[in-house]
Amino acid sequence: MARYDASRHSTFTYPNAPLPFPPARNHPLITSELRLASVVSTMDAARELATTQDYLLVSAETQSGGKGTRGRAWRSPPGNIYMTVGIHRRRLPAPRLALLPLELGLHLWEESASRVTEEARSGLKLKWPNDLLYQGRKTAGILVESFGDYLMAGFGINVAAAPEVTDGGAPAACLAEAGIPPGSREALVEGIYQRIRAAESDPESILLAWQAKVDWDRPVRLRDREGSPKVTAVSVNRHGHLLVRHGNGTEEWLVSEYLL
Ligand code: BTN
Repeated sequence: MARYDASRHSTFTYPNAPLPFPPARNHPLITSELRLASVVSTMDAARELATTQDYLLVSAETQSGGKGTRGRAWRSPPGNIYMTVGIHRRRLPAPRLALLPLELGLHLWEESASRVTEEARSGLKLKWPNDLLYQGRKTAGILVESFGDYLMAGFGINVAAAPEVTDGGAPAACLAEAGIPPGSREALVEGIYQRIRAAESDPESILLAWQAKVDWDRPVRLRDREGSPKVTAVSVNRHGHLLVRHGNGTEEWLVSEYLL
C-alpha cells in the first residue's frame, strides 16, 4: 500500500530532503499551562492566555460552549478531554505549518495507541485530516484556529463518554471502549502536549506515519456537496491535501475539511 508518491508532487516548491522543525530563533522554550474546572471554551481561554510563549496549554473538565468544526457545537460532559494547545508561529516553519493538521492527528493517535492493547490499536484509525476513529466511529476531533501569532489547536477527546456528533447525529465512540481508563485523562493531556512540544519530525516521515493510520478502504462522503457523494481516498501530498476518486473515476484534490 504505497500511498505517498513524491514523483506525483514534484512541482512543490520546497525541497524533497527531510526538513526538521527547528525553532526560527534559538531561545529557551517558554510555556504556560492552565487547568480549569469549567470554562465556556478552552479556545477562548487560550486566546486570553497567549502573550509571547512558544507553547501554551489550557485544559478543562467541562465546557459550556464547546466549539466543533464548521460552527458546530462540541458537547462537553465531564470525563472527556477538552484542551487547547497554542503554538507560536516561530515554532511553525512552512513545512511544519503545511502538515500541522496531520501532525496533530498523529500525536493524538500515537498517544492514544500507546495506551491500548495491540488488538484495540488496530481499531484506532485517522480520518483526514485529523479525526480519531475507533472501530469506525468518531472518538476525537481537532479544531485549528488562527489567533495573532498563534495557531490554536483544540482537542476534544471522548475518554469516558461518547456523545453523538452534533449535527448529523453520527455515532461516536470513546477511548474507554478501547480499554483506556477514564483516570488516564490527565496523562493523555500531558502526553499530547509533550509530543507537540517535542516534535522534531520531517514532512516525509509525517506523511508516511499518517498514511499508515488511515483506513484507505473505507469510503468517505463529501460534505457540502449535493447528495454527499461517496468517494475513495487515494493519497495525500506534501501540503496535506487529500486526493479522492469519485465513482466515475475522476480524481479531485481536497484542500480543507470536506468529509462528513
Ligand atoms: C471537531 O468538530 O471535530 C473538532 C472538535 C474540537 C473540540 C475541542 S474541545 C477543546 C477545544 N475547545 C473547543 O471549544 N473546541 C475544541
